[in-house]
Amino acid sequence: MYRDMASALWNCCAEKLNVRRQYLVSDPLSREAVLIDTVLDYEPASGSASTATASSILDFIHANGFNVKYILETHAHADHLTAAQYFKQKLGAPVGIGAGISQVQRAFGPTYNLSPSAFTGAFDLLLKDADELKLGSLTCRVLHLPGHTPDHVGYVIGDAVFCGDSIFQPDVGSARCDFPGGDASVLYSSMQRLMGLPSSFRLFVGHDYPPEGRDALCVSTVAEQRAANKHAKTGVSQQEFVHFRSTRDAILGEPRLLHPSLQTNLRGGRLPTEEARLGFKVPM
Ligand SMILES: [Fe+2]
Repeated sequence: MYRDMASALWNCCAEKLNVRRQYLVSDPLSREAVLIDTVLDYEPASGSASTATASSILDFIHANGFNVKYILETHAHADHLTAAQYFKQKLGAPVGIGAGISQVQRAFGPTYNLSPSAFTGAFDLLLKDADELKLGSLTCRVLHLPGHTPDHVGYVIGDAVFCGDSIFQPDVGSARCDFPGGDASVLYSSMQRLMGLPSSFRLFVGHDYPPEGRDALCVSTVAEQRAANKHAKTGVSQQEFVHFRSTRDAILGEPRLLHPSLQTNLRGGRLPTEEARLGFKVPM
């Protein structure tokens, strides 16, 4: 049953090394469903946004009779723009994110000259650890998984966990922790929490950066992660992880879509042109 729940999956914006995932998960009996980490097509050179990919997902939703109850983010992404507002407009479902988003909004608001009031009502649901959302006969349980970002959450539906960027495929390891509010020691704890789930649980990632020689993947089991996670498999200490992560993060550049992503995603997916008829700000 759970295999079917996770079968509707798109591989969006497949760049050379970064494959982003967005998920539609449904209760096979009631057809009630949830969208996780949707993506708006965006071309930075021209500043043009498109709902082409989102529209194809919407067509799939309608063709299969899914009743989307929630549009969820695992966190405020820094590398792509969410399509949450498009889906909300089309489907009428609420947009949810981790309650820690307020910390991210406070951290980045001044960078873009966004006052606190700019974030009022940005999201319909602010989710806390252990919150539960109903999907027909299924339950979507919230796991707070900070470290990559403070708002980061995962969603547990049956034996499937939608992890966002709190863990990557075993041969990729872990996500950066150098954004404001990020913390490598906290991410280590979140990864340990995921790896403490039952061995057969499936961890669906938000990205894959496949090494040369393998295709992009979206899922591994907890057992596989414990045995082989490149950065935090069983036996790696928190100290070792933090040392590796800090060294690695110190040489990483900013994500290409950092500024348009944050200005959109901190406001639940609203583009600046809706209010100001202006483009995105790029701080110097
Ligand atoms: Fe991320």
